[in-house]
Amino acid sequence: MDIQQLQGLVNQMTLEEKIAQLLQLTAHFHEGTDNEGQVTGPMEEMGITEPMVTASGSILGLSGAQAVIDVQNMYLSKSPLGIPLLFMADVVHGFKTIFPIPLAIGCSWDMELAEKSAEIAAKESAVSGIHVTFAPMVDLVRDPRWGRVMETTGEDPYLNSLFARAFVRGYQGDHLKDDPDRLAACVKHFAAYGAPEGGRDYNTVNMSERQLREQYLPAYQAALDEGCEMVMASFNTVDGIPASGNEKLMRGILREEWAFDGVLISDWASIREMVAHGAAEDDAEAAYRAIRAGVDIEMMTPCYVNHLPQLIRSGRVDEALVDEAVLRILRLKDKLGLFDNPVRAADPVREQEIIFCEEHRNVSYQLAVKSSVLLKNSGILPLRPDANIALIGPFAQSGDILGWWSCEGNKDDAVQLGDALQKRLSGGKLGIAEGCGLDSITSQQIEAALETARQAEIIVLALGEESAMSGEGGSRTDIRLPQAQLELVKHLKTLGKPMAAVIFNGRPLDLHGIFEEADAVLEAWFPGSEGGAALADILLGNVNPSGRLTMSFPQSVGQVPVYYNHFNTGRPMDPANQEVRYVSKYIDSSNDPLLPFGFGLSYTTFTYSDLTISSPELKAGEALTVQVKVTNTGDREGEETVQLYIRDVTGEVVRPMRELKDFRKLALAPGESGTASFTVTEEQLRYYHSDLSFTSDPGSFQVFVGPNSRDTLEQHFKLNHL
Ligand code: BGC
Repeated sequence: MDIQQLQGLVNQMTLEEKIAQLLQLTAHFHEGTDNEGQVTGPMEEMGITEPMVTASGSILGLSGAQAVIDVQNMYLSKSPLGIPLLFMADVVHGFKTIFPIPLAIGCSWDMELAEKSAEIAAKESAVSGIHVTFAPMVDLVRDPRWGRVMETTGEDPYLNSLFARAFVRGYQGDHLKDDPDRLAACVKHFAAYGAPEGGRDYNTVNMSERQLREQYLPAYQAALDEGCEMVMASFNTVDGIPASGNEKLMRGILREEWAFDGVLISDWASIREMVAHGAAEDDAEAAYRAIRAGVDIEMMTPCYVNHLPQLIRSGRVDEALVDEAVLRILRLKDKLGLFDNPVRAADPVREQEIIFCEEHRNVSYQLAVKSSVLLKNSGILPLRPDANIALIGPFAQSGDILGWWSCEGNKDDAVQLGDALQKRLSGGKLGIAEGCGLDSITSQQIEAALETARQAEIIVLALGEESAMSGEGGSRTDIRLPQAQLELVKHLKTLGKPMAAVIFNGRPLDLHGIFEEADAVLEAWFPGSEGGAALADILLGNVNPSGRLTMSFPQSVGQVPVYYNHFNTGRPMDPANQEVRYVSKYIDSSNDPLLPFGFGLSYTTFTYSDLTISSPELKAGEALTVQVKVTNTGDREGEETVQLYIRDVTGEVVRPMRELKDFRKLALAPGESGTASFTVTEEQLRYYHSDLSFTSDPGSFQVFVGPNSRDTLEQHFKLNHL
């Protein structure tokens, strides 16, 4: 349909019909009347009527091809103008085939696989009837206490932006209408939801507009540049105003500056929550603020349906605001082709063929391999296939490896580590003991674990957080492994046997009690449906780990936030002279994280040499070439992620100690050398000045290249604007 036809539809709708398009509810509202037609359950609690539900424009969280077809047909039979319903859901890291959590996908630094994972997630959910996914989540994060760090790709604005684009491409493809196996994407949570004070979920976010623009906004903008159809508002305040009612953010930056004309949805109840925030006196005021800010769809609260009619009739709200919102929603329905084919890809037969098929699981396996990060290895990994191994810990034989936001995933389908190891050993032996619960331990469990370990030559620990310890509402003040697991480690340590630890978790942990004790540590994150297979292959050296951290691991929670792109301060600590008091430091800890951004080991080793720069001077409009030689000095083939960082030594506004600007992947055979080549231009050196102008400053720049943000070679150049 063209825009006139869609506008024609809007013109034919009653005010109530239009406002109902702005309401999104979960499926059980559509089941909400009893046999006599009395309003029951959630509808009654929310104070909404059946006609409002029947006419609501979109539905949240319903899937299953037949169920969706039935609901859509029923809906259309009651829709006077034949406007189809939109089905939205949280397909965050896979639908039934679950991929590693997004923070793990971040550690792959692999945009192709990330895109592929989104494409598969789209295909599986589209055939189950879904039209829109509430993904990608691209919030920049610096505080591992926040449970939702598992949903993002990490702490770097540049890398997050690349992933934002890759995910959007994967979900949406090139042309939504012609490709029913794709979904419309909804980037979230706009804005800066990833910076809650103290890492406590839903908490206040306070930052300067400069910092917001420089660090936090780029990834949302990248998603929109890639054509992302929807945006979700965040729960938090931005400069004192809840995002859902924040005109400056939504009308100003999103709609006017970035020219976003797609659908903007609130987060779950975030319009009504303006009352609790203290930014609206009641639901009516909340509706007023949200519609003025440009929020089109209200998720799960009735402020719009209950109050917009009166606000419009009284003249406080211009009906044109509602018309605009409805038009955007109808346009999205049209882009998805729903007016021609309201069930889109939903197909109960194809659903059986596509979902959780081998091809999809294979991609999940590949991503799990690429996103696991080897944090430490004194040489005990890889294991010999004929080794006598004791696998001990609550994750030795557990399906709880999918992670939060794997709504449709089935833990029973996940490949468990114990099974996968057993299958791959040849001539070796595997003893398995639980050792402890997630956070409980008995003397029988300790005894059984010690007995299993005594019979083995090497202990592999499988430890971690259960998936509910991260994700939404999963903030923690203590980010160590649960005490019972640390106690188990202590007992096993007394045996003096080599120990490798595999850790399952949704956030960077404080690794006290395990990092020093174990001879090797493999960060598995929540690796998804094929996790056990990928980890067993890594442990046995069938594949070589190549993941690199995209969030720093703190030494302790007291250092948080600790991130690589920090400022120098006026009193930086001199590492060679750590006793000086009046410098920016802790008296009980170093300033450095335990493991820096970009870090990860391999079963082979790489050396860096010959860092060159094509000229000591860069002029605007020209480019410099930076090259480095990387040699595989070990005895296995391996993949290295060569990282380029830049520091602007002096700026009008102080600049980070280093900022990731680019990276290259090199696959090298033993003894082989390769060259990573980068181009540096003036555009990459621009930043937001105090007047919010986005320009570069002439002067000195340092260039760092290396395997992570800490261990780098250095060059320098001058930027000359003339
Ligand atoms: C979350 C969103 C999610 C929404 C719908 C909210 O609680 O913050 O990320 O998309 O629920 O499930």
